[in-house]
Amino acid sequence: MEKKDLDWGNLDFGYRKTDYRFVSNYSDGKWDDGELTTDDKVVISECAGVLQYSQSCFEGMKAYTTEDGRIVTFRPDLNGARMEDSCRRLVMPVYPKEKFVEAVLKTIKANEAWVPPYGSGATLYIRPYMFGSTPVIGVKPADGYQFRILTTPVGPYFKGGMKGINIRVSEFDRAAPHGTGHIKAGLNYAMSLYPIVKAHEDGFNENMYLDSATRTYVEETGGANFIFVTKDGTIVTPKSNTILPSVTRRSLIYVAEHYLGLKTEERAVRFDEVKDFAEAGVCGTAAVVSPVASVTGLDGTKYEFPYGKEEMGPTIKKLYDTLTGIQMGRIDAPEGWIYEIK
Ligand code: PLP
Ligand code: COI
Repeated sequence: MEKKDLDWGNLDFGYRKTDYRFVSNYSDGKWDDGELTTDDKVVISECAGVLQYSQSCFEGMKAYTTEDGRIVTFRPDLNGARMEDSCRRLVMPVYPKEKFVEAVLKTIKANEAWVPPYGSGATLYIRPYMFGSTPVIGVKPADGYQFRILTTPVGPYFKGGMKGINIRVSEFDRAAPHGTGHIKAGLNYAMSLYPIVKAHEDGFNENMYLDSATRTYVEETGGANFIFVTKDGTIVTPKSNTILPSVTRRSLIYVAEHYLGLKTEERAVRFDEVKDFAEAGVCGTAAVVSPVASVTGLDGTKYEFPYGKEEMGPTIKKLYDTLTGIQMGRIDAPEGWIYEIK
């Protein structure tokens, strides 16, 4: 298989059309078998549930070329399970996680030529998504749905390499108590567009959302969870039922405990504690583990972490190196984490 002729080392985090995508339709109460297609266009009713009432959810994962030339993906079963949760909350039909994993592997295989080579810094981003495709005009769930998986080769989500990003506390809220913050609903991202555009205009890379009920606790950014390191080297991650349960964060906690012998705490993190941490990062499929250089509070006070401005702090770096080592086949993975595409 010949790789596509792309400048792999200089890809941004953008959409590039690849050869195949997976499509399955739900009608009369069941999913069809689904198939790979070269057609990148979606044709749906002008009154489709997704267009009127944003009935949509999605997932994100990556495929990697390992050091020894295999193509693998990382814990797609967890994404499949999370998408089931998203579907239930949005009254959409579950696409069973076993079939989800099968479809993901098939779509990667079909786009093998687009999986960036080992060492290029790029990966193949995989975006499964589902939407209400049939008409609704009264506020209710659609009857018909489409599940698709597209792939696109991507470079880093944040430019600037190992340099930390600058974050500000958002004056807007991301997720209401008992709302949809814990699932990957498209609507959570639509509402974050205004705050992220404003943050960029004001010179910040990302927003830190606080809990919307009390504005006391750290939640997450628009597209990644937080990870903090105390001065004595303990990993602290915010616990909240209004943040997305990040696969990357859950994996990093395991790596910290079982590979690096670090202490971890998943607990509510008050915003006023942030200034006391030695290192901070954001983590996610797109973000991987990106260091945070500073956080600016609502009152304009800027907290700069001792590490992060020019390079990753030592603990965040160890987490990054171990996680990416596992993903790229340099370090043995825990049982069941790596799915090889054959
Ligand atoms: N939080 C939000 C809001 C996200 O969109 C993402 C990305 O998927 C994450 C966290 C990180 O989750 P994961 O590590 O599963 O990609
Ligand atoms: C991911 O990390 O997969 C996401 O969906 C986050 C998004 C900001 C690209």
